[in-house]
Amino acid sequence: MRATVEDLRTEIEIVREVAFSEEQQPKDYIVSRGVEPSATDRPPWTTYGYRQALPKLLGLDVMEFIQGVVDRRGMARVLDVGCGSGRFLDQCKRGYRRYADGLTVPGWNEKVECYGLTACLYNSAELDSVPAGIHMKLGDAQNLARLYYGQSFDVITAVHVAHHVADPWALFFGMYEKLADGGGCFVRGIPFSLVDGEDANLADYLRARYSATVNEPYFDRRYQERCADISMVRRRGVPLVLPLNYAGINDRPLIPRVLYRFDPTVAFQPAFA
Ligand SMILES: C[S@@+](CC[C@H](N)C(=O)[O-])C[C@H]1O[C@@H](n2cnc3c(N)ncnc32)[C@H](O)[C@@H]1O
Repeated sequence: MRATVEDLRTEIEIVREVAFSEEQQPKDYIVSRGVEPSATDRPPWTTYGYRQALPKLLGLDVMEFIQGVVDRRGMARVLDVGCGSGRFLDQCKRGYRRYADGLTVPGWNEKVECYGLTACLYNSAELDSVPAGIHMKLGDAQNLARLYYGQSFDVITAVHVAHHVADPWALFFGMYEKLADGGGCFVRGIPFSLVDGEDANLADYLRARYSATVNEPYFDRRYQERCADISMVRRRGVPLVLPLNYAGINDRPLIPRVLYRFDPTVAFQPAFA
């Protein structure tokens, strides 16, 4: 039995690397969402930016939440996991022109420290290189604890990223671990398809235990996979205990996916954390 559990963890490490290396190739999907919809968005794939894509937290959208941190602490550290071209971070820093009314929204400039993680470096129509003043890193979002060892962030976002990795709950676990006390994480599109069909229990658990916002899981248009959006605050001294266990691997071509089952008797420990 012990050998079987270890074999599974080894397989998980391998499929995580497979998914990551697949993402190191340039892709045709949207990689440059900004704060709000803009002229460069291409319907029908996206008509929204981060402000619309991410669920509110404590009644605040992601920009209002960042503003709250800046007001309280004088500055905010923001990490965008799977940041694509980095346009959201660039707009947080330098501001942007609103598509709807043409008004210029000022950036937080030196009041925000921006960190972007991506599997692949992209350009966008507006940014012909890595945006200035943003700490951009190439690395695997499934290993956040290792990549950002000794660092913490006030806000961590992940928009349309979790369904590209093999082990999405390892990504989410790492996001929570890297939050400062009182910090918030915001996720758009995390696969919610437990092998035992206990998705509703997982959502209820996160709502009850962590006051998380978890919307009803929906089917993603492009991947036909049931996903949910989550936002959550890290409370001082409260670790994330996820009642999940690895349950095997769904060996799909190109993007393998780790399977999970709901188990209230365990605390999820990501393989290769
Ligand atoms: C669909 S794009 C979304 C980009 C951006 N968040 C947006 O909404 O415009 C997916 C992004 O996730 C990144 N990504 C996918 N798998 C990753 C992984 N394992 N580690 C780090 N980044 C990853 C890709 O390189 C890309 O930047």
